[in-house]
Amino acid sequence: MAPTLLHLATGLAFLTTTSFADLTTIIDATSNRGTWEGWGTSLAWWAAAFGQRDDLADIFFTLKTTTHQSTQSLPGLGLTIARYNAGASSTNTINPSTRMVVSPKMIPSRQVQGFWLDWTSSSPSSPSWNWSADPNQRAMLSKAAARGANILELFSNSPMWWMCNNHNPSGSDDGKSDNLQSWNHQNHAVYLATIAKYASENWGVRFQSVDPFNEPSATWWNGKTGTQEGCHFEASTQASVLGYLRGELNSRGLQQTVIAASDESHYDEAVATLNRFSGNATVMGAVGRVNVHGYQYGGGRRDALYDLAARAGKKLWQSEYGEADATGERLVSNLLLDMRWLRPTAWVYWQVLDGGGWGLIEADNDRKTIGQANQKYFVLAQFARHIRPGMRILDAGSDYAIAAYDQQAGKLVIVAVNWGDPQYINFDLSRFGAVGSNGSTIKRWATQIGSGTRYAEYSDTQLSGTRFWSRFEKKMVQTFEVTGVHL
Ligand SMILES: *[C@@H]1O[C@H](CO)[C@@H](O)[C@H](O)[C@H]1NC(C)=O
Ligand SMILES: *[C@@H]1O[C@H](CO)[C@@H](O)[C@H](O)[C@H]1NC(C)=O
Ligand SMILES: *[C@@H]1O[C@H](CO)[C@@H](O)[C@H](O)[C@H]1NC(C)=O
Repeated sequence: MAPTLLHLATGLAFLTTTSFADLTTIIDATSNRGTWEGWGTSLAWWAAAFGQRDDLADIFFTLKTTTHQSTQSLPGLGLTIARYNAGASSTNTINPSTRMVVSPKMIPSRQVQGFWLDWTSSSPSSPSWNWSADPNQRAMLSKAAARGANILELFSNSPMWWMCNNHNPSGSDDGKSDNLQSWNHQNHAVYLATIAKYASENWGVRFQSVDPFNEPSATWWNGKTGTQEGCHFEASTQASVLGYLRGELNSRGLQQTVIAASDESHYDEAVATLNRFSGNATVMGAVGRVNVHGYQYGGGRRDALYDLAARAGKKLWQSEYGEADATGERLVSNLLLDMRWLRPTAWVYWQVLDGGGWGLIEADNDRKTIGQANQKYFVLAQFARHIRPGMRILDAGSDYAIAAYDQQAGKLVIVAVNWGDPQYINFDLSRFGAVGSNGSTIKRWATQIGSGTRYAEYSDTQLSGTRFWSRFEKKMVQTFEVTGVHL
């Protein structure tokens, strides 16, 4: 939608010499784009490296301010979703001297320790299972839960290496075909259901959901020379595994555990996969939620995926997003596209600690070194600290702003970005039943994409009748909290 220019006829009434609103955003009080479930991160590599650190758990999973590396004061992101990566790697030999085949490009920090060592026994109390594996990622999972992360998901990048055709957990020889052996479809389901059950009984955590695949339709990275664990699954193989997984969860008393699928990397692939499932009532019944990744960035039909999921009555998550842009610019741009067109009820960053601009905080999982928070960290804080679980997402009718409403607190939250030259943006709240008294203070926070202002808080904005406005520098993100608002 093209930005709406302020009509002078109606605008003059509230213009002053110091505030000129160039753009107007009208928040639709009657809209309801879903109840927000939360913001999150996948654990996996960063947590397997740094999972014992309480300070990092505080930074990501609380809202309190933590001093990072003695120099940076970081406002906690308050993430409430953590995705635990069930590993596919182990160092034991089987049958009797077969070992895991390791891709030459898979660095040690990406070989995630799995729990099931061999096919001899599916009993979790047998020596076929190593419950000492992956202590650091498990530690961070517990720390996240202890701090309030109440939506935990178990996900898999690849089946255990010994279930794979080439014994290589990075993917099949050609990268384009199934790597899970046809006689192991059920075993992959047994693996994940056993971990979910064991966690509920021994780790003190309950996984709300289990996702057995990661970017299963992809053919470009999940091969035998891949840089991480990965596995291609044809849609028909996915259907088979999903059916088994539902059965294995149910037989362990985990009927309430949701199956999420398929974590495709692109919106368009997710559409294609769902379309492949749609004629099969059993598999559609098994899938409780649609998960998709954001690696199509500015491309793809987010709206088509939303429509498909909504018609099937499924919740939809942006379950993985990441890129190497430390400035936060691409994150804001793609997050706003998601909120406008994909309409997820949760948004999950991939690795909050990572190198090359991928992390919100720079880190090297192999050298075990941690650097400073990137600007991207503060950009995400503008959203994650304010749009909180339980809020109702409203239609802000624009590509540059989103809005959420907290019924209990009578609070409206708006997050907006200005991509162009410095200008005022005007927010029209006239569609609400009540908006608080004229002149009341609206708190705002600002972060400059790239560098500069980092989550600075101001109390300089006032309600003027049913409107307010604020000046935005070029590429500035601002968050506003308006109190006393009633629908
Ligand atoms: C089980 O996991 C622990 C912890 O990582 C590891 O030291 C041990 O070697 C593993 N045992 C087997 C049999 O793989
Ligand atoms: C339908 O789904 C079930 C369970 O997920 C699966 O076992 C079966 O193979 C699927 N049927 C077809 C024709 O794909
Ligand atoms: C709001 O208050 C300002 C300043 O006191 C006043 O000029 C303005 O007319 C008021 N607007 C409304 C809609 O009441």
